[in-house]
Amino acid sequence: MTRTVLVTGSSSGFGRATVRTFLAQGWNVVATLRDPAAWDGEASDRLLVRALDVRDESSIDTAVTAATQRFGHLDAVVNNAGMGLFSVFETTPQSVIDDLFQTNVYGPMRVIRAVLPVFQAQGGGRIVNVTSSSATVPTPLQAAYGASKAALTVFSEGLEYELADQNIQVRTVEPGFVPTTGFFTQTSARFASIPAPEAYLPYIQKQIAAFDVQPPAGYLATEDDVAATVFTAATDESGLTRFRVGGDTLDGAAARRQSDADYDAWRTAQFA
Ligand SMILES: NC(=O)c1ccc[n+]([C@@H]2O[C@H](COP(=O)([O-])OP(=O)(O)OC[C@H]3O[C@@H](n4cnc5c(N)ncnc54)[C@H](OP(=O)(O)O)[C@@H]3O)[C@@H](O)[C@H]2O)c1
Repeated sequence: MTRTVLVTGSSSGFGRATVRTFLAQGWNVVATLRDPAAWDGEASDRLLVRALDVRDESSIDTAVTAATQRFGHLDAVVNNAGMGLFSVFETTPQSVIDDLFQTNVYGPMRVIRAVLPVFQAQGGGRIVNVTSSSATVPTPLQAAYGASKAALTVFSEGLEYELADQNIQVRTVEPGFVPTTGFFTQTSARFASIPAPEAYLPYIQKQIAAFDVQPPAGYLATEDDVAATVFTAATDESGLTRFRVGGDTLDGAAARRQSDADYDAWRTAQFA
């Protein structure tokens, strides 16, 4: 039987590449996005494009129902939709941090609640949550963003225990920085809209200069690398729960595995 995946945040970046990858692998795909009229990607009789805002439960329920009505079953869900944030915490409005957690943490939770009854009725399913390397190695100007992705990572690992007996697996995909997506542009625009007090300016300038340093070719992941890793996370049968992608992610994870003192020395050299 042809397997079916539902992907959130399919309008651009990793989500769109993930839709492309699963279609190429022969799956049925439910590509969901906030504005389905804006879909200008693939067309296929194995593709259903539906509205889904991860902050809106009724839109999630409607998309999940449409998925099962069209394809009869749902094998995997990819919680990819997310919001970035570069800012200094002190001047970041609480409403922006609320938006961040509503999208990056409570959004996937809402989607998972909606698909669990479907997975249970079918006898199993796979949940893939797209987190970030910032969940393993918090980076400057992203304290709140890293906190949201760390929350999703910890939630995913805890949930895995609860669902294992029901043949429902939870996996995380942890991409590093991928500058080709709209993520960086939108996050930068958000940054520009949150003025920082003068005391932070030397720190901010240093961090912006660090962004201008080009890593070696092939070091950072591409959208397609991330999509391929999402596909692996959705289909892998080894029991691995955490899938990292990108040279920066792998180096950060290796640094984190050192002693606390060695990790502190590494992160100070990298970022402080
Ligand atoms: N790019 C990176 O460097 C990077 C690194 C690590 C992790 N990530 C994570 O990877 C995921 C995808 O990011 P990306 O790089 O592909 O960025 P992107 O191109 O900006 O994609 C983000 C997607 O999330 C959607 N979205 C935002 N809020 C939503 C909501 N309330 N409901 C439904 N969809 C919503 C956006 O849709 P609209 O078009 O409707 O806004 C867009 O399709 C995110 O979770 C991000 O945190 C990105």
